[in-house]
Amino acid sequence: MSDRRVVTEAPATTGADTERLRARARTELEAARARTAGLTDCLDTAGLLAQHSPLMSPLVWDLAHIGNQEEIWLVRTAGGRQAMRPELDPVYDAFQHPRAERPTLPLLSPEQARRFVAEVREQSLDVLADSRWDQDPLLERGFVFGMVAQHEQQHDETMLATHQLRQGPPVLHAPAPPPAPADAAGLPRDVLIPAGPFTMGTSTDPWALDNERPAHTVELPAFRLDTTPVSNADYLRFIEDGGYTQPRWWSEDGWKHCQEAGLQAPLFWHRDGDVWLRRRFGRTEPVQPQQPVVHVSWYEADAYARWAGRRLPTEAEWEKAARYDPADGLSRRNPWGDADPGPEHANLDQRHLEPAAVGSYPDGAAPCGARQLLGDVWEWTSTDFTGYLGFRAFPYREYSEVFFGSDYKVLRGGSFGTAPVACRSTFRNWDYPIRRQIFSGFRTAADPEAS
Ligand code: AVJ
Ligand code: FE
Repeated sequence: MSDRRVVTEAPATTGADTERLRARARTELEAARARTAGLTDCLDTAGLLAQHSPLMSPLVWDLAHIGNQEEIWLVRTAGGRQAMRPELDPVYDAFQHPRAERPTLPLLSPEQARRFVAEVREQSLDVLADSRWDQDPLLERGFVFGMVAQHEQQHDETMLATHQLRQGPPVLHAPAPPPAPADAAGLPRDVLIPAGPFTMGTSTDPWALDNERPAHTVELPAFRLDTTPVSNADYLRFIEDGGYTQPRWWSEDGWKHCQEAGLQAPLFWHRDGDVWLRRRFGRTEPVQPQQPVVHVSWYEADAYARWAGRRLPTEAEWEKAARYDPADGLSRRNPWGDADPGPEHANLDQRHLEPAAVGSYPDGAAPCGARQLLGDVWEWTSTDFTGYLGFRAFPYREYSEVFFGSDYKVLRGGSFGTAPVACRSTFRNWDYPIRRQIFSGFRTAADPEAS
């Protein structure tokens, strides 16, 4: 495979690398647990047991599911230790019970669930201190610890979406994101990414999940990509131009869904006279024109793009814009370089409970000039979720492989609700094209003008 990254990036595993990753594993497990506690300690027993939407699990299911997965992968499989609570496996197996039916299961109470996750964590930290990482591919470079920390953080984002669906007064609080920088208003609408090959995916990132692997070369024609995600102001023009009433902008399936579901605006929006309001974590407030639009389905994003005379980017286009550095021809880990995301780069990590104005985070810009590729809102792409050439399911088919096919569309880039450990330019998320309770937005792409 002609992949310069594999040659230049793959370090031989060193003792220092192992110790750095071991420390990081502990930090990330602890950060995930603090986040889980913050999302569950703020509600009473009734609030944790309730199903706030048929799309979501009761929060107490997520909590114990986090512990059950950690027990299965860290304690039993990687640690080789005896099962702690094997009788819980069927209750917290996502594939045995669709979300709608989880409230009827014999769930642990909030107190029991909290005790369970704490007991599992004690064992996990023991495994972390004890295990030799050169013995097992699951443990190599601490993969399984990274996988479990990402799993917990993914459920934390799902729990945040449950909070957004919940009725009642606010229980989550966070400062507003920083205002847009002075140059935001003057940014070009889009950037040009020249034709040529780039390295997509990774074979070397120690905690990249199976669907991000392996690194491979993809050749793309030139394309244009919006400098920022589509804003609420942009999206309002689509609504006011009758976007939701004209089938010509919609795919056939999309139009059918639009009518059946009675779509009129993004989820959580409603009109009050002349103004659009949105509900956000229990508050009702005017729609912020300069923020990226969020809570739109793939069908809505696709219709908007057509109305705008454009299209959604492919997944490969998105990743090339986010990673390709024309100065050396290599793919970066993140738009700004290989450093982990900090607060200056991207709106991640539930620091703010809403996206930042379009044009924010100049320090997080990609080499092509596009901003906010990571953080703020997940971005729909036109691409179906499938495995890269050379994909191998690891460590279990149910993480990714069983979802491959034409039912799911890929989303990229993470949202304000995503933790840095579960966000990088190779990370792939997926969902049904009708879904919009997730923190989903988009940007559009176009072919360059024929000249
Ligand atoms: C990658 C977000 C689609 O929530 O279904 C959680 C992540 N996988 N537990 C999901 C996941 C298993 C997954 N997504
Ligand atoms: Fe899960």
